[in-house]
Amino acid sequence: MSVEQLMWVEKYRPKKLDELVNQEEVKERLRFLLRKKEEIPHLLFAGPPGSGKTTTALIVARETLGEYWQDYTLSLNASDERGIDMIRERVKTFARYSDRREGVPFRLVILDEADEMTSDAQTALRRIMEETSAYTRFILICNYSSGIIEPIQSRCAVFRFKRLDNQSLTSYLKMIAERENVVVSGDDVFTAIYEATQGDLRQAINMMQAASASGEIDLEKIKRITGATVKAKVSNIIQLALSGKFEEARLKMLELTRVYGLPERDFLRYASEAISSLKAEDSSQLYKIIAEYDYRLVLGAQPEIQITAMLAEISSLSKRKE
Ligand SMILES: Nc1ncnc2c1ncn2[C@@H]1O[C@H](COP(=O)(O)OP(=O)(O)OP(=O)(O)O)[C@@H](O)[C@H]1O
Ligand SMILES: [Mg+2]
Repeated sequence: MSVEQLMWVEKYRPKKLDELVNQEEVKERLRFLLRKKEEIPHLLFAGPPGSGKTTTALIVARETLGEYWQDYTLSLNASDERGIDMIRERVKTFARYSDRREGVPFRLVILDEADEMTSDAQTALRRIMEETSAYTRFILICNYSSGIIEPIQSRCAVFRFKRLDNQSLTSYLKMIAERENVVVSGDDVFTAIYEATQGDLRQAINMMQAASASGEIDLEKIKRITGATVKAKVSNIIQLALSGKFEEARLKMLELTRVYGLPERDFLRYASEAISSLKAEDSSQLYKIIAEYDYRLVLGAQPEIQITAMLAEISSLSKRKE
């Protein structure tokens, strides 16, 4: 079995605009642009995770480049550590091929996570876009268009993808459940998945696939799986803090407690579990730190401030070693 068949997110990745849910405005504007393929401008797709940005970019590639679209499409990730020089090299080599097949109007570069680039790198990117514009079109993908410098934004048609709502997410999951012969105990399961994933359809599909491994899906199973996801997130936050990335750890912690509604004391409990499985060298120190903050919470200190301070303290451990 191929990966495409194994992973439901790939197996059920829409291949046509019509199959895309919840993005009516994007679909309508793209249909309009696709009527004159040769005139398509650079595109900028912005929106939350799992809302269909990459999927739509691949659909545009298929629609504009036809049967051999894969030969004429270059997918890159901007957050790749090799940076803008690697992007320049790859785009230039790719744009240099001169064979032009009938009906292939341009080459397409799909650049994911473009908002992760520094503004210097984006300025360089803008130059690359201009230098290669005779043969190439770019589709830039990001979470927030505000992370993209103005001169690039103004050269692109900007498309905003919406976070999926409960209804579209549920109907998509129901379609998959039906085709995969998965029994779901009730609609409350879909609502629980929606709440746990905040409308991220990729995460939702993965969650359903994981839950289906042991037969009928009920609320209990989903709860167990979201528990596991939350634990993994806490572990990731502790690792970030341990490597001195305090700000990143803090933001992820706020997402967990505010968006996922994870109680702070549970955060500490999972943090302690994470430390035992991370086998960190400072683990005794870390346990002491966690115990101290747990105690403060029991005494009624403001939880968010305390957890933030704890992450700061853990981060400073890494600094002391340097
Ligand atoms: N609007 C949508 N309609 C139908 N399926 C969708 C939609 N959005 C996401 N999916 C499903 O979720 C999977 C992931 O979508 P996709 O890779 O396009 O997300 P993304 O917006 O690029 O997210 P990320 O920012 O995390 O890369 C797809 O394979 C598809 O199965
Ligand atoms: Mg994507």
